[in-house]
Amino acid sequence: MSLLKRLGGTPQPNEVAPSNNSAATPSPSPAETRGSLLSNSGMAAPPPVEPTSRPSSLEQRVSGLSSTSSSAVTSDGAITQQRILELSLWIVDRILGSLGNQTELKRTPESERLLQERFTNYYRQSGVNLSDSQVKQLYEMVNDELFGFGPIEPLLRDDSITEVMVNGPYSVYVEQRGKLSLTPIRFANDDHVLKVIDRIIRPLGRRIDRKWPMVDARLPDGSRVNAIIPPCAIDGPSITIRKFSKKKLTVDDLIKFGSLTPEMAEFLRACVVSRLNIVVSGGTGSGKTTLLNVLSNFVPEDERIVTIEDSAELKLSQDHVVRLEAKPAEVDGTGRVAIRDLVINSLRMRPERVVIGECRGGETMDMLQAMNTGHDGSLTTLHANTPRDAIARMETMALMAGMDMPVHVIREQVASAIDLIVQQTRLDDGQRKVSYITEVQGMEGDVVVLQDIFVLDIKGKTPEGKIISELRPTGTRPRFTSRLEAHGFKLPPSIFGAVSPGNNRW
Ligand SMILES: Nc1ncnc2c1ncn2[C@@H]1O[C@H](COP(=O)(O)OP(=O)(O)O)[C@@H](O)[C@H]1O
Ligand SMILES: [Mg+2]
Repeated sequence: MSLLKRLGGTPQPNEVAPSNNSAATPSPSPAETRGSLLSNSGMAAPPPVEPTSRPSSLEQRVSGLSSTSSSAVTSDGAITQQRILELSLWIVDRILGSLGNQTELKRTPESERLLQERFTNYYRQSGVNLSDSQVKQLYEMVNDELFGFGPIEPLLRDDSITEVMVNGPYSVYVEQRGKLSLTPIRFANDDHVLKVIDRIIRPLGRRIDRKWPMVDARLPDGSRVNAIIPPCAIDGPSITIRKFSKKKLTVDDLIKFGSLTPEMAEFLRACVVSRLNIVVSGGTGSGKTTLLNVLSNFVPEDERIVTIEDSAELKLSQDHVVRLEAKPAEVDGTGRVAIRDLVINSLRMRPERVVIGECRGGETMDMLQAMNTGHDGSLTTLHANTPRDAIARMETMALMAGMDMPVHVIREQVASAIDLIVQQTRLDDGQRKVSYITEVQGMEGDVVVLQDIFVLDIKGKTPEGKIISELRPTGTRPRFTSRLEAHGFKLPPSIFGAVSPGNNRW
């Protein structure tokens, strides 16, 4: 049965022209379509898209992300993917127009029925003749446009995709299994991307315009969104979505993936329980928050935990947790509550543990001071590429926050506050690894002394490009071993490689 029939329409023999011949149908040519179908013209016309890079079906749009082999052009080359997209927007405009001045629909059984009915109507009116599978695709596109976030909706639904990056209307990338790839997804033009941005931020009472062309927001499922538009985004409105993973990775997952060894996990558990101050360092998307979550879950059940985040990502299994979240300014520019404000506030909340999602600025100074004045056992992450770099970052952030002390004093504060740095790395092939577990031993002269306890050795590459590496202890026992022992952790010397070197190959 054709989709039209399934959608409730009863096509008359002559209504849907059997031919794609544009001379025989009233449908406009692709060039005309741009002007006429998109009522809000004035935006740049989409550039021609090579037929080979167009997907032929929605399934392909979604699952065959890197496939470029099949053409979406019908045998006579008349119906292109771009054309279907434009047609979908034309139908959306008509449907919204028929509903009065509504710009969005709520998904209800009633509105879905309405959509089916009107879709069938307007599709017929368009006079465009599509194959059954193309009609199905068109219907999905209209559906995604009315009820979802337009062309990227299928990417948001796909749980294997962790990040969606829209670099202007004609370039949409995703991260899937740790690897970035270009998708065949296209928006019609800049305005189409802007509409999707608007749909994301409007329910949150946020706005974006030329005067303040960037915004942070969240999708209803918790995914984090950043949007930036012209004039700051030179090549068109950009959207970056870090998808919220419903299932958090556990320490067992990380061991299974080879991100760390069971010995490293055991060592980290001992360090968390023994109230060491730990910084997880790493690049964007390297897995810092995931590791922070795993470490936080090692905190004993009977300790009061206060978590502080820009947008709540941590998921702790303990009961006694108070979750705090920063708050952007109101429309009038006032009322912002920064991470730093929350850190200061948290210290008045009788915390036994403070977990800070990420230190990016002034909060670093408050955190260091708290750690040095009895609030031990704190955990945080920061953006740095090596443990040494992490120390330098903390110094810089404390300095910039106006810590009124000479640099070497700040450095001493860092060295005495932080016990351990856990470096998280995303390798070129997408694997995420704990590349260093490094003890901060103190100061020698002007230098912070770091001692690696576990390291990642890169050995080479398989013919398929997978990086072969080895996680191993360095043979050095940390100086804080006695603290671990005081908390009941008698870790065997072999954990540190003292007896036989670790030989965990991944
Ligand atoms: N060890 C790991 N192995 C595989 N995937 C991971 C690992 N750690 C994190 N991820 C995935 O990588 C993505 C980014 O992780 P996240 O912890 O948010 O990174 P960051 O906080 O450094 O930006 C998430 O989708 C997460 O599930
Ligand atoms: Mg993070």
